[in-house]
Amino acid sequence: MTFGRLSQELIDFFKRTLQEDQIFLDEENLLKYGSDETENLSYPPEVVLKPNNTEEVAAILKICNEHSIPVTPLGARTGLSGGALSIHGGVGLSMERFDRIVDIDENNLQATVEPGVINQVFQEAVKEKGLFYPPDPASWGSCFLGGNLALNSGGPRAVKYGVTSDYVLNLEVVLASGDVIWTGANTLKNSTGYNLTQLMVGSEGTLGIITKAVFKLIPEPTEDLLMLVPFNSEEKACEAVPAIFKAGVIPSAMEFMERDAIDFTLKYIDGINMEVGDEVQAHLLIEVDGNDPEVLMKDCEKIMSVLEQYEAGEILFADTAAQKEMLWKMRIRVGEAVKANSIYKEEDTVVPRYEMPRLLKGVKEIGKRYGFTSVCYGHVGDGNLHVNIIKGDMSEAKWNNELTAAIREIFELCVSLGGTISGEHGIGFVQKNYMDIPFSAVELELQRGIKRNFDPKGILNPSKVFPDD
Ligand code: LAC
Ligand code: ZN
Repeated sequence: MTFGRLSQELIDFFKRTLQEDQIFLDEENLLKYGSDETENLSYPPEVVLKPNNTEEVAAILKICNEHSIPVTPLGARTGLSGGALSIHGGVGLSMERFDRIVDIDENNLQATVEPGVINQVFQEAVKEKGLFYPPDPASWGSCFLGGNLALNSGGPRAVKYGVTSDYVLNLEVVLASGDVIWTGANTLKNSTGYNLTQLMVGSEGTLGIITKAVFKLIPEPTEDLLMLVPFNSEEKACEAVPAIFKAGVIPSAMEFMERDAIDFTLKYIDGINMEVGDEVQAHLLIEVDGNDPEVLMKDCEKIMSVLEQYEAGEILFADTAAQKEMLWKMRIRVGEAVKANSIYKEEDTVVPRYEMPRLLKGVKEIGKRYGFTSVCYGHVGDGNLHVNIIKGDMSEAKWNNELTAAIREIFELCVSLGGTISGEHGIGFVQKNYMDIPFSAVELELQRGIKRNFDPKGILNPSKVFPDD
């Protein structure tokens, strides 16, 4: 793909179409909008534009398409796969001004939102009306719903409530041509033609720019119980997980943290008061929720009787809201804590739940062979293990030359166990050259054909998702 460069003619067009405070050409902003939370990568755009409405997005895309200028959609830039990096310069299209909750429809249990609304802001707005929007990525306090849609984000509650795609009904999308479409209808059922709504979800800004989304909501559960369960063996912790589901309980969260994940986080975050015995190798954080405390107690009893069979240690029940908050803080800040500690690479492996012990064991074996350590944690109830590979004192040469082969082995292991290479962080820039592992040439070509149909000139988020030619 050869792209055009930003010209004076284009800048003049943007100045005619947008206000001055919507166009950023200074180095500080270009650098700021040229990175996300992925490692230490930096690929600045040539200009950052902040449209206010769909018409402005359409005008920008139309002219960029005519001039073959790459457009990288930007949300809160909390992504972990480099999806927001402007690899080829061009326009960084920041959606931050699309921050309105257009409507919360209490009659239909639906909401219409713009993509720049922060996940937590949306959750709190619907909660005020007794409603619930479950997808809860760890970055929920800052990430945008648009980014959640782009990556089909999950989070701890996905294990019971599903991921972003399970809540989206309809999307307004600006195509590369500048045409504006709606993908479906605001209905709970829809057998009308191809499902473009679901095609857009997880497409990482490569098919169109989402400018509005209609989400389904559910009634808010009023009660929850949270427990932290120590294990002296990582494998036993993972083995206990499918047994809990088999016993008939679907927890609202089922999270795994290996010992290092806990140690890194306790060192990194102030104010968490927790003693972890020397023998503890892993923790499960298990939550159940619903409306009836008695039912939840019964669920917990069932869970505890399973846990006993897997040699769990003494269970800590969070009895106050503050304690719950502390335990959740410890869990959702693991990623940040690892990042602060060393250069690292984060992989987002996912396998069928029952295969988790084999995945974990395999990751550690591969690590031993290649000489790296890894910090593993994540959504074990979904079979979704975040593997943070730590550079530590590995030499630059080894880190740069051998890691790709090691990651390849990890991904091959995932696929051999019936899994795939990303559960919720997406492929973006950093995982794209591994796409030949989960997909055959035929399967990849089918996906490329879809991309060409939506975006013939390849201007939308180029060098993402698909492997280099
Ligand atoms: C988490 C993010 C990294 O689960 O997905 O903490
Ligand atoms: Zn996660």
